[in-house]
Order: sequence, then C-alpha cells, then structure tokens
Amino acid sequence: MSAKFFPTNGHLLVCQNGTCQRLGSPLLFQALWKYLERENLAYYKKGGTLRLTQSGCLGACGYGPTLCVYRQRGGQLEEAWYGAVDFPLAAQIAQAVHSEADLPTERKYGPTLPNSD
Ligand code: FES
Repeated sequence: MSAKFFPTNGHLLVCQNGTCQRLGSPLLFQALWKYLERENLAYYKKGGTLRLTQSGCLGACGYGPTLCVYRQRGGQLEEAWYGAVDFPLAAQIAQAVHSEADLPTERKYGPTLPNSD
C-alpha cells in the first residue's frame, strides 16, 4: 500500500505509564496537544505535520516525564528519547520536527548515533 493519507514529518510519543504519570505526563500530553492544535502543527490541520500519541514505558521511568520522537531524515530513520520533559522542551522538539531542523540535545538520552559525539 503506497497511499499517504496524512503525510507527516514525525511522530512524538509521551509516556503515560505509572511513574511518568506521577511525574506529570498527563498534563504534559494535554498541553502538547493543545499546542499542536493552536499552532496548526497537528497532522490533520492544514500545513500540520506532527503525530502525537500516548505510549507505554519508554525505559527511563525515574527521569520522567519521557518523550520519544521518530522521523525520517536524510533517507534514514532518526529516533530520540528525552527525560524530564517539560512543556517548553516538548514544544521545542515539536517545532524542530515540524521544521525539519536538528533535534534539541538538552535532556536527550538516546540513542547515540554512529556519527554523533
Ligand atoms: S514509566 Fe515512563 S519511562 Fe517508564
């Protein structure tokens, strides 16, 4: 199947498992959704390019709320995970994915890419 119903620049996932919930991930998820809608970044908005989904544990529970992002860049899959994510950082990540810019390095915990430091 080759049809692209909603082309996107990337997919953001915010952990909603127990520890992250206790650290504020439900509020972070809601705030990020409102931001994507207000700024027309959500994939179903005109010009929007981002998907946002709740996820299970992303493996850094004590450092939550955690967020991961997947996108195609330069013909390759780029993925990144972030810990201790607050709304300003989540918005910064979303803007970077939307505008196809470099991802923020602040509070990024993985993975290490072959050509990175
Ligand atoms: S509970 Fe969120 S990373 Fe494990």
